[in-house]
Amino acid sequence: MGLRLVFFLVCFCAGSLAALHAQQTSIQSVGGGDAWLLSAGEMSYAIGINDAKMPQTLYWGSRIGSVAGLPPARMHPEIASQEPPVATTPLEYTAWSSGGLPYEPALKAAFPDGNRSMTLRFDHAEQKGSAMLELTLRDQVEPVFVHLYYQLYPQGILARWSEIENRSKVVVTLENAASATWNLPPDPRYQLESLTGRWGGEFQLQRETIHPGASVLESRRGHTSHQTNPWFQVTAAGATTENAGPVWFGELGWSGSWRISVEEVESHAVRVTGGYNPFDFAYPLAPGALLATPHFYAGYTSAGEGEASRILHRFQQEAILPQAPHPRPRPVLYNSWEATGFDVNEAGQMSLIERAARLGVERFVIDDGWFGQRKNDHAGLGDWYVNPDKFPHGLKPVIERVHALGMDFGIWVEPEMVNPDSDLYRKHPDWAMHFPGQPRTEMRNQLMLNLARPDVRAYVFGFLDELVSKNDIAFLKWDYNRIWAEPGWEEVPLAEQKTIYVKYVENLYSILVELRRKHPKLEIESCSSGGGRVDLGILRDTDQVWPSDNTDALDRLTIQDGFSHAYTTGIMMAWTTDVPNFLDARSVPLLFRFHVAMSGSLGVGNSLNKWTDAEMQLATEQIAYYKSIRPLVQQGLLYRLTPALATPGHWATEYVAPDRSQAVVFAYLQATAYGEPFPIIRLEGLEPAATYVLTPQDRTKAPLLPQQATGAELMGSGIRLQLRGDYQSTVVTLKRQ
Ligand code: DGJ
Repeated sequence: MGLRLVFFLVCFCAGSLAALHAQQTSIQSVGGGDAWLLSAGEMSYAIGINDAKMPQTLYWGSRIGSVAGLPPARMHPEIASQEPPVATTPLEYTAWSSGGLPYEPALKAAFPDGNRSMTLRFDHAEQKGSAMLELTLRDQVEPVFVHLYYQLYPQGILARWSEIENRSKVVVTLENAASATWNLPPDPRYQLESLTGRWGGEFQLQRETIHPGASVLESRRGHTSHQTNPWFQVTAAGATTENAGPVWFGELGWSGSWRISVEEVESHAVRVTGGYNPFDFAYPLAPGALLATPHFYAGYTSAGEGEASRILHRFQQEAILPQAPHPRPRPVLYNSWEATGFDVNEAGQMSLIERAARLGVERFVIDDGWFGQRKNDHAGLGDWYVNPDKFPHGLKPVIERVHALGMDFGIWVEPEMVNPDSDLYRKHPDWAMHFPGQPRTEMRNQLMLNLARPDVRAYVFGFLDELVSKNDIAFLKWDYNRIWAEPGWEEVPLAEQKTIYVKYVENLYSILVELRRKHPKLEIESCSSGGGRVDLGILRDTDQVWPSDNTDALDRLTIQDGFSHAYTTGIMMAWTTDVPNFLDARSVPLLFRFHVAMSGSLGVGNSLNKWTDAEMQLATEQIAYYKSIRPLVQQGLLYRLTPALATPGHWATEYVAPDRSQAVVFAYLQATAYGEPFPIIRLEGLEPAATYVLTPQDRTKAPLLPQQATGAELMGSGIRLQLRGDYQSTVVTLKRQ
């Protein structure tokens, strides 16, 4: 049998052509080179140049073979003098005030002669292979060009971004520079889903009806933010569920201030414009200069919210993360932050190292408190030398002991910050972000370094490079614990000072890239008082994230569920910690805490010296068990069996191997009420005809579980678990026979 035939049969047996398409990206140029059909995975996206020479969205939806059935690209006629054609035509990239655009523009610029109007018309197109299209537009008067990039990924993702190039002889100041506008076809059923939150309560899934006007998702805080994550999803009320129906989704790759505007325009059409946050934004482009906007990734599925998440997860694993397409498994780590706070020292960490190694921990991490004069959060940030009172022999003996016990070593840093009580600040007060003559707002007693400055960038890279070069460090927990205030930059000319919003983040990324290049084995976690810096920009150079400082297992179920809508759980660190929980004062059983943490990338943050033998044993067993299911949890296909917003108090999550040969199911119960049994769990994603052997972690919680059943049975009639009481949980694994 030829290889091609084998390949076809495998795909066909999997039940759909999805696997075939998933391998393919294609760009068809049609209509004499003025229309394009872009396809990736199960999605197609069509663009045409209309009669006004403006690129217009023709289609965004399920994969199609040709543009033959689509309406031609044509400017909509003026319906009323209140709604000009640029307002009603789904244009790909709009500049203000072209034709009287009343909605969120992608681009807004100011010229030195007072002109603030641009009208972008198609200039030329360039196709590179089957995955990249570049459309170049030009202002109808000035030689200012905009390059629109369309990059397809086989997972079913289209990345769009723009580059604005000034070929004129004058400085052009950009006041608004978006990556892209995504146009959705008119539909009155649209609802917007987003992830909002706060410190200790990140990734809360919100759903709202899209109505005329704008919903704005944004951060003005200088970083991604806890309050809103740069992810959106548009669904159709009554049609979209977890397992079926249309979902248009997208996320921005940017770790600074950002904005995504979701606007319902004429006749229930929706446009989603995103990129740099235009608030306090001004980016002067000198003659010959160019500004690139962040990547804005998007996809479409007709198979529901779960499939939208799985597309994103796979895309992140295979195309975004530093080790893509094969991210290394996340090691089980120990970190004593919740147990010891700033009180880290050689003796204390040494005794924790011994206990952690006995549990089967693979990475030992020293958190905040090891450097400078850091006794609490009032001092030390900026002084990255090992505190001689706490570690009189330096880090060497600690690291050697960690290695001797078979673990690798990680350490906490917060490179972008400085305490006023530090040698660094005393020497370089001008390095802290500030406006001249204005008070400097402290948060957590710290100021922000202005990383946009080349000397600050050099300092930050220098100390990190030295730390990693002089010590055998496998992992950095890179923290960031405040938001911006007074974002001044007085060392550059006034007109350039607001470029701080872009240049700060560019320097952050360039430090990460350079550090990783120089230390290829180094892994990095993005942490920002929990989940304040999780986005597809930072994820290109970091291996894992800390989703929340909230480690209460019950709250974590909701946080982790929300997280999974936008990001792969393979990067989602989750620790067990002591009870009563520091935030909620809630005490849940250790097994429940483990099971919640094991549905992400497991870490342990308990006071190990206080654990009883029984607790040590439970933890050892669960860590060993976790290692056996880790490939499924970290790289499998996630099925949320009890979607958020639907079943309070019960959760079930399933991870299925991409080849459907194995699966693991986690089930959690907050509290039994009225004696009601735990609901039947209908599994997903299995091969219907295959027989699976089921192995519960604890038979007493699954007395009715069959030893084996077909995929069809498990997905049809489901499984019954006996979870009764408060904070009960269990795990079941499945293996195809
Ligand atoms: C905030 C982080 O989210 C915590 O995990 C911990 O590292 C502290 N900072 C340390 O200051």
